[in-house]
Amino acid sequence: MPTLNWIGKDKIINHHQEVPYKVLNHEYGFSENRKTNDAIESGNLIINGDNLEALKSLLPQYEGKVNCIYIDPPYNTGNESWVYNDNVNSPQIKKWLGKTVGKESEDLTRHDKWLCMMYPRLKLLHKLLAKDGVIFISIDDNEQANLKLMCDEIFGGGNFVANFIWNHRKSSQNDTDVSLSHNYTFCYSKNRNFFRIKPLAILEKKFTNSDNDPRGAWVADPMDAPNIRVNLEYEIINPNTNEVFLPPKGRHWRFTKEKYEEALKNNRIIFGKTGKTKPQYKRFQFEAEAKGINPFTIWNEIGTATDATKELMMIFDGEKLFQTPKPSSLIERIIEISTNKNSIILDSFAGSGTTAHAVLNLNKQDGGNRQFILIEMENYAETITAERVKRVINGYADKEPTGGSFDYYTLGEPLFDENNNLNENVGIEKIREYVWFTETRIPFEIQEKTAPFLGSHNNTSYYFIYEKEVLTTLDYDSLAQYVQQKSERYIIYADNCLLPESFMREKNIEFKKIPRDITRF
Ligand SMILES: C[S@@+](CC[C@H](N)C(=O)[O-])C[C@H]1O[C@@H](n2cnc3c(N)ncnc32)[C@H](O)[C@@H]1O
Repeated sequence: MPTLNWIGKDKIINHHQEVPYKVLNHEYGFSENRKTNDAIESGNLIINGDNLEALKSLLPQYEGKVNCIYIDPPYNTGNESWVYNDNVNSPQIKKWLGKTVGKESEDLTRHDKWLCMMYPRLKLLHKLLAKDGVIFISIDDNEQANLKLMCDEIFGGGNFVANFIWNHRKSSQNDTDVSLSHNYTFCYSKNRNFFRIKPLAILEKKFTNSDNDPRGAWVADPMDAPNIRVNLEYEIINPNTNEVFLPPKGRHWRFTKEKYEEALKNNRIIFGKTGKTKPQYKRFQFEAEAKGINPFTIWNEIGTATDATKELMMIFDGEKLFQTPKPSSLIERIIEISTNKNSIILDSFAGSGTTAHAVLNLNKQDGGNRQFILIEMENYAETITAERVKRVINGYADKEPTGGSFDYYTLGEPLFDENNNLNENVGIEKIREYVWFTETRIPFEIQEKTAPFLGSHNNTSYYFIYEKEVLTTLDYDSLAQYVQQKSERYIIYADNCLLPESFMREKNIEFKKIPRDITRF
């Protein structure tokens, strides 16, 4: 398979493994007009921070759990004057490249830089995707060819689903020789065997019920179809007029004779009362809706870039705060064809927060419980991204409130210091939470457990015997003092262990040394 190379690739290829795990600091919760200090825990998150670190922070809780990722990364147009930098040249990214790629980073072209930026982020996104999950990535001609090859490498060429083309402009552009009117959205599944694009609901308005058919509204479809198929050529007789019909030249009837006769018996064939009206077939609305229609790869009908700008300006009382939003209708389409009502949807280049808007709209429409996770690096994460989500929840202009809630986080300190020891500044509860996640991958109920007990899961009880600046020991005394929970199996963390191996085997106790045996992501 052809592979893509660029300057800096060798430095970046395993970089996602070296990214420090940082804790997330809860700043506030928001639920319908109310800001709270406590976490709401609806599963909806907005995180302000570089997505490389934020994605790492999500791994313990979300690895293999995210159903749908939509990202709209900077297209690398070279434009540096938008609210975000579209030249891979923002101060944060410049500093990160310098540190990660080293001196060589000074020689990188903007394409090398973009690829260096994207590669480790896509690696983490790949880890977060569920077994039947899917990622959509919007892009234009600046990087689409590079992105395709990079995605083939990270997600596997066999997991490519489609390249959807969004027609984002309807009017002609006169300042260039070509009116650019589309961009791309690559779609890759985590595993093509477990993922299928869902059909779209039929939105035809032409179903009517002129004969009061008890089966409901219907539309008359032609009985004939293109090409010659001799076994599907037979005489159809109009029972009202005795006229005889054969398929028109070069065409055939769409059913076998047996199926036609059954349809006739079931009042599904429509004949004209007089004249030469060809027979037609009744297609019922309920059947069409159940079947849906497979989405085309070209999307002409779901709003333009101008619509997106107008939508955002309407939310912000006529102010234009962000240059390149997507319309919520575009992201609704993506979510509709790839998720169900309980899916987790992640956007790690959140911008103005359109993905959360689309999730909230769809939940309101169908009573779903989809969750969104947004990550935005710039400091407008609060003033634009989160503010838009608040306004959508509460209703804006003539739009009804969608309802909903979210928790807002910033990135905190790394859990491990530069010597690979636990960083006590993050607080013991964050450390306990992390260890619990690494062991069980299920949420940690902080209030209910008294240290050093972490909790029980699958007949195993977990303990984390840890004290600031004190060496802890697992021995008969600490066992008697702390381990009261009866369990089939015990996993106990401490700095040292003095219990004999035979005793541990007999009681099904596993010792894990702090910090050596704490899983790193
Ligand atoms: C093209 S915009 C996304 C627009 C968004 N789809 C919308 O509808 O508003 C890209 C966004 O990604 C953000 N971004 C770029 N690099 C990032 C990073 N490393 N971490 C988090 N956000 C980043 C930019 O600040 C910008 O807001």
